Amino acid sequence: MNIIFLGPPGAGKGTQAQLLTRELGIPQISTGDMLRKAMREGTKTGLEAKRYVESGGLVPDDVVIAIVKERLAEDDCKGGYMLDGFPRTVYQADELSKFAQIDAAVDLELADEVIIERLSGRRVCPNCNATYHTSQLGGSTVCKNCGAGLIQRKDDMEETIRNRLKVYKEQTAPLIEYYRNKGILREINCVGTVDEIFALVKRALEA
Ligand code: AP5
Repeated sequence: MNIIFLGPPGAGKGTQAQLLTRELGIPQISTGDMLRKAMREGTKTGLEAKRYVESGGLVPDDVVIAIVKERLAEDDCKGGYMLDGFPRTVYQADELSKFAQIDAAVDLELADEVIIERLSGRRVCPNCNATYHTSQLGGSTVCKNCGAGLIQRKDDMEETIRNRLKVYKEQTAPLIEYYRNKGILREINCVGTVDEIFALVKRALEA
């Protein structure tokens, strides 16, 4: 099954995609993670992406489309995959449809105030990409999976979060209608615990 996770920043796309990866055994393809890795490694893509990612804007379509196209051609994607954070514009969605067949687009929705609270408290593992909220960590600053020191993303500062929300509404939210018109949209309100939302995601994908 080839799945897209849509939804505003902080709605829980990465959290749910990580759980679904374990459940279905198919890879999570997060363009955000791929761009941050490229930035850490100082590659040409990383250098090009840095100013957009850090300000909360979108990286140019052609850069992101190229990395996704290359990734989907790898062997582990042959049995299905989850796209987390791609597509983010109608142009990206149109291009994706030229090289991939998507079965379901899961739209995770959440109010802005909750998003700001969740993202301000997010801590991530730079080694294995595990995601936490400070409320789950009991003061710990290390990853439960691999022991690496957790970090706060630069774009999780409140002003940048507000810009990401604005960019989402202007450029990405039209994809909800786009995938509704294709008959593959599954909408989920993400108020609830991680496990409660995961149960809704699984039910939506079974439908
Ligand atoms: P990206 O990394 O994709 O960021 P995003 O879409 O803004 O999404 P986030 O990772 O911030 O949130 P999420 O929905 O995954 O939430 P999470 O599960 O972590 O992109 C970053 C940047 O890269 C973009 O701004 C752009 O510059 C660039 N980029 C990426 N893709 C691009 C593209 N296609 N085109 C152009 N540019 C692109 O959860 C958030 C927090 O909430 C965590 O702390 C988590 O523990 C907590 N949480 C999750 N679920 C719950 C729950 N149910 N209850 C309580 N807490 C919860």
